[in-house]
This record gives sequence, C-alpha cells and structure tokens, in this order.
Amino acid sequence: MMEVNAQKQQVGEYAASLVHADMVVGLGTGSTVKYFVEALARRVQLERLPIRGVTTSKCTAELAQRLGMTIVDIDEVDQIDLTIDGADRVNRHLEGIKGGGAALLFEKIVARNSKRNIWIVDESKVCDVLGGFPLPVEVVQYGVEHLMQLFTGAQLQPVLRRASDQQPLVTDNGNYIIDLHVAQINQPAVLADWLANQVGVVEHGLFLDICDEVIVGGETMHILTAQ
Ligand code: A5P
Repeated sequence: MMEVNAQKQQVGEYAASLVHADMVVGLGTGSTVKYFVEALARRVQLERLPIRGVTTSKCTAELAQRLGMTIVDIDEVDQIDLTIDGADRVNRHLEGIKGGGAALLFEKIVARNSKRNIWIVDESKVCDVLGGFPLPVEVVQYGVEHLMQLFTGAQLQPVLRRASDQQPLVTDNGNYIIDLHVAQINQPAVLADWLANQVGVVEHGLFLDICDEVIVGGETMHILTAQ
C-alpha cells in the first residue's frame, strides 16, 4: 500500500493541475491541502498563472501568502470557481465529515459559495458508513457545559476539544469545538438537521450535498462521483 503522505502529495499535486487561469480558487485546510497549495503556488510562479485564492483558515492563508499567492476576501468575489479541500471521512454518496483541523465553519462557507467542490483524500478516508472519526461541532463558548449535557443525553458522546496546553481549543472564530464520538452515523441528514437546530451550535462537520467529486490517492488514484 502506498504510504499515506505519498497519497496526500499525489492527490494534492493532481488537484493543482485542475486549476485554470483567471479562476477564483477556494483553498481548504489540512495536511493534504498543504500539498495542493504548494503545488499550485509552484504553477503560479512558473507559469505566471493569474488566479486568486479564497482561504478557509488562518493557517492556509499564512501558507498561501508566504508562497506568494494572491489572496482575496470572500466578500470581494461574486463566486468561487473551484474549491479544493480535504476530508476526514467520505462515503460513496460523497457525504463527509470535516473539521478535524477545526476549520469547518469557513470551509463550509467557502464550499457553499463555490461552483464546484473537489475533495482530495488518501484511501483510508473512504468508508461505507460515516463514522470512525469524531464529528466536530463548532459551538459558542457561552453555555458550553449545557450543550455538552444535551449531547450526552442524546447519546452523542461529546468531548470538548483541547489544545496542547489542555485549555479548550479556540477556533479562528473564537468558538469551541465539541467532538462527537459516534461510531456510525447511519442517517447523516437527520443528525445534521438536529445539530443545526440546537441553540449555541454555530456549525457542524457534516458536509452533505456539497462535494462534486473526490480524488482518492493510492496505487491507482481514482475519482469518486456521486452515486
Ligand atoms: C480541517 O478542518 C478539515 O476539514 C480537513 O479538511 C480535514 O481534517 C482533512 O485534513 P487532512 O488532510 O490533514 O487529513
């Protein structure tokens, strides 16, 4: 089996070849996207490719700017032509769990405003039923313990995400992340609706009806389209 980082590099570099001149490109977040941004920045330099990027996190914004890419605010553009992002899990219907890197809110806003969304993943991320990775939920800080109790009561096994100093992790938007340790999400749309209706929830990491195509790394890199 091809090593995971090699797969991430493979799909990141392939995705960079899908970008054309004059595109507004959504730049996702994560270790796979890092390979994509680096490969795209090389094209920008070598080919003088005129593109503008919209970023989904401070981390990606810093990387892209350091590599000399032009970054614009999402509100300066009418639409984003293509967004390339990673995912933590994806099923055969192209439904995914995202937010392992705590950037789910901006990732979802960028994705919703993109004409086309492509995810790049190594083959370990593809599953039949979503699960096997905690589902991140971004919540406001105020009243977080009450939301934790609500999620516990709903059998969602919540864990407040902590930073390396053991303090609650604070997102780019000043919120907390609660990770739901649900083994299998059999009805993603039902859970997504329920989460979206809870006061204090800012956004959840279920990305449904968003992704158009998934590029999966491996010995035989392949593309998943919605079934
Ligand atoms: C960031 O918040 C996430 O949604 C990432 O896109 C996801 O965690 C994938 O990250 P890796 O490419 O690092 O696995």
